Amino acid sequence: MIAAIMGQFGHPRGAAGRVAGWVMAHRRSNRQRNSWVVSLLEVQPTENVLEIGFGPGLAIAELSRRAGEQGHVYGIDHSDVMLRQATRRNAAAIVAGRVTLRRASVDQLPPALGGPFDAILAVNSLGLWPASAERLGELRRRLRPGGRIAIASQPRCPGATASTSRAAARQIEALLQGAGYTKTRTQTLDLIPPVVCVLAVNPGPDRGRSPPASDRTS
Ligand SMILES: C[S@@+](CC[C@H](N)C(=O)[O-])C[C@H]1O[C@@H](n2cnc3c(N)ncnc32)[C@H](O)[C@@H]1O
Repeated sequence: MIAAIMGQFGHPRGAAGRVAGWVMAHRRSNRQRNSWVVSLLEVQPTENVLEIGFGPGLAIAELSRRAGEQGHVYGIDHSDVMLRQATRRNAAAIVAGRVTLRRASVDQLPPALGGPFDAILAVNSLGLWPASAERLGELRRRLRPGGRIAIASQPRCPGATASTSRAAARQIEALLQGAGYTKTRTQTLDLIPPVVCVLAVNPGPDRGRSPPASDRTS
């Protein structure tokens, strides 16, 4: 039963998925890491924000508390079970028109999702995406120039330590730089194991990326 529930965190389904969602919503470290990541993004009341892989919707709730009348919080998750839990958790903000949640995978972003976004975040979700480097490139094109991204990881593999978290941060940072983001910086929340959050900026359409070698003039 425990193994079945653990396997559910990547794509919660059915009864075991509902338990996984409950665990994510109530585990103290999950709550702390989600509100910490949101605080790092310094979202302003007029901003449009997108979360990928919202799970039970903790960060969405925190973001919607910060969003003003002119801002909007969007989220996608590929799990029906998570969509239902996050919808219940954020029902008032959805009815008030401040939050939009959709079931979708990051590799098939709904065209009508909105954007360009001022900020995008993902908490313990990037490692589950198909072709994450490509996905980060697509997300950069959904950010306004100067828009921020925050990718957080708290490694949950057995035996994870501070060194596992540091390795995750280095990997995320390299992926973000490869996808054309600039100004990467890593913040750490001292839990067990530590949570790392890599923040970066979209420099704009083409700046920040070197042209392919074939396009360079000597
Ligand atoms: C470990 S959970 C983390 C949930 C939440 N961010 C949190 O920290 O509480 C990972 C979430 O990412 C979602 N997810 C995984 N792969 C996805 C994909 N390709 N597209 C959208 N969501 C995805 C899962 O359904 C799950 O809700």
